[in-house]
Amino acid sequence: MVTLIYAHRGASKLAPENTMPAFDLAYQAGADGIETDVQLTKDSVPVLIHDENVRRTTNGTGFVQDYTYEEIKKLDAGSWFSSKFSDTPIVTLEEFLGWVQDKSMVLNIELKNNVIDYKNMERIVYDLLQAHQVLEQTVGSSFNPDSMKRMKEIDPKVTTAFLTSQKLPDLLGYLRRLQVDGLHAKYRLLNKKLAENCMQQNLALRSYTVNRPAQMKKCFKLKCEGIFTDVPHLAKEYRELYQ
Ligand code: G3P
Ligand code: CA
Repeated sequence: MVTLIYAHRGASKLAPENTMPAFDLAYQAGADGIETDVQLTKDSVPVLIHDENVRRTTNGTGFVQDYTYEEIKKLDAGSWFSSKFSDTPIVTLEEFLGWVQDKSMVLNIELKNNVIDYKNMERIVYDLLQAHQVLEQTVGSSFNPDSMKRMKEIDPKVTTAFLTSQKLPDLLGYLRRLQVDGLHAKYRLLNKKLAENCMQQNLALRSYTVNRPAQMKKCFKLKCEGIFTDVPHLAKEYRELYQ
């Protein structure tokens, strides 16, 4: 079993995160998959942006949920990274799925609803995944456990994962009760015991954010199902060397 390489927010070391240039570079680098973050606009359009607030990664200010689709599309999501990417727009989930649906890549759609629990987000995302026929190659994830429960209520066949950066007591029991299919663990939580427990319970273990060769090596050795990395081009090289 080979550890899958998911480009974290696209190839986000080389291009502005969660934009088409970052996704395209990930594809060109031969990443197995793409991880991206979803928030909802005021008019409930799912858009790919990590933060609830547009300030860090665009030329705008304020919350995603206070922008309409028309308004958010006018923002420049590239200049903060480099002038080379000026006027790069925010991408909608629909645009992204339209681009990726004919590529044989796996997807991790992270629902960013742990700070703002957007109404109907799971249904909106699910319907788009279904319309683009990418459900089978997609893992939906969230730091919000209730959201992952709601996803399974919509469709028990949808693949889900719980995200955590914290050591939780009885983590495995917790995951079982949530009925998720996987665990997306911050790299510092990763150890042999966790990997063995996940394997025993048939839970896919993936780790973030894995950018250094030594970290990658550990994930490959522990046979993680996947890693989320900002540098998929390097991860591909290291995987050939170490796995
Ligand atoms: O999905 C893995 C990872 O992206 C979770 O953390 O903050 O980078 O979205 P964050
Ligand atoms: Ca993410």
